[in-house]
Amino acid sequence: MGVGVLCAVQGAAESAIVQAVEGSGGRLSVTRRCADLTELLAAAEAGLGGLAVVSGDLDRLDREAVAVLHRCGVRVVGLGDPSRPWLAERLTAHGADLVVDVDVDGRVPDVVREALSVLGGGQVPPVAAPQPVSPTRHGTTVAVWGATGAPGRTFVAVNLAAELAALGRRTLLVDADTYGGVVAQVLGVLDEAPGVAAAARAAGQGALDLPTLARLAPVVLPELRLLSGISRADRWPELPASSLELVLSQARALADVTVVDTGFCLEQDEMLSYDTRAPARNAATLTALEQADLVVVVGTADPVGVQRLVRALADVADRGLALTRRVVVNRVRSTVAGSRPGEAVAAALARYAGVEDVLLVPEDRSAVDAAMLEGRALREVAPGSPARRSLAALAAEVAATVRADAPVGRVPVG
Ligand SMILES: Nc1ncnc2c1ncn2[C@@H]1O[C@H](COP(=O)(O)OP(=O)(O)OP(=O)(O)O)[C@@H](O)[C@H]1O
Ligand SMILES: [Mg+2]
Repeated sequence: MGVGVLCAVQGAAESAIVQAVEGSGGRLSVTRRCADLTELLAAAEAGLGGLAVVSGDLDRLDREAVAVLHRCGVRVVGLGDPSRPWLAERLTAHGADLVVDVDVDGRVPDVVREALSVLGGGQVPPVAAPQPVSPTRHGTTVAVWGATGAPGRTFVAVNLAAELAALGRRTLLVDADTYGGVVAQVLGVLDEAPGVAAAARAAGQGALDLPTLARLAPVVLPELRLLSGISRADRWPELPASSLELVLSQARALADVTVVDTGFCLEQDEMLSYDTRAPARNAATLTALEQADLVVVVGTADPVGVQRLVRALADVADRGLALTRRVVVNRVRSTVAGSRPGEAVAAALARYAGVEDVLLVPEDRSAVDAAMLEGRALREVAPGSPARRSLAALAAEVAATVRADAPVGRVPVG
């Protein structure tokens, strides 16, 4: 038996495809005719085929679905329609391996030959990951991550972004925390719809261009745009990895620096549930860490926080993530770390994690509370606060690696 073909084709083309496959001299055989995408994905996960033939207008077919098929080792041939040229474009944007046109009455010229050439004459070659559309201009991506226990990831991300913007770097702040994004609230932005979910949806449909991303990420301070997050924790499936990857890729074209606030957990849910199709809650965090040029790893200065930070650093290193990282210890205070808290924390991190260059951010209850209360960045509310000065120093470091005249262009929309 040849390579199994999963056929999810609607209308007159279906029987023509089946006939064509059956006439391939045994190199291909239809193993499942699927009524819809759900059935197709189930068949792919059950290992029933090495090639999927899908209608371009198959309901709910998007980039994530093609990525799932690829993860199952299934190549994807999409059927376009010459009278609807956008179908072929969309299939390509979704990452289909091959797009062939069928005409209105379902004639399928040479589709089998082309499918066979995709399959390398019967062997299913490894599937290449779909390439994110590479923007022409190239900003830097900084992910802010840290272990559980609310060490201050959002606080660092928001204020790092605000300081970068104040230094004249075009900055985009992305809230990618799938456990309840609060960045919009912290910045006092009335947020009707999560921009990041809308951007991910557009990316999934192959429709995320620069003006669309700019429209979804309003300017909240001079040089600072915000792609707001999913504040209702149960909406996390709206951030699939393959779409966020595209959002972050497109963000490089929109901003000099993209700062991403992430969740805390790195466990891969599909490994937990053995269901490759299940959307993964932590995929957004993993994607942000994978895409980042720099990961700011945040911990807190109390004994539990330092221990969690040491483990978190080992965890990312084991996964080959955050190879370029900057360690920040937040809320440094003598009440919990002795009379010289900064020295104590730095010594512990050097000893247990080999980190020699930790950046310390002091506890600054009244200033941080005042900023939170007003929904503004620390620099606007308490510019002289010691915590703000530390974050301004971090921003200066990051800004030094990003030229102000980085080849990132203005977008012709607000
Ligand atoms: N340097 C600081 N001084 C005083 N309070 C701080 C400081 N940094 C953060 N906080 C406070 O600590 C709390 C947790 O901070 P934040 O929300 O940034 O943490 P997080 O790591 O993003 O947590 P979550 O898991 O909820 O996303 C907030 O109330 C914040 O105002
Ligand atoms: Mg947070």
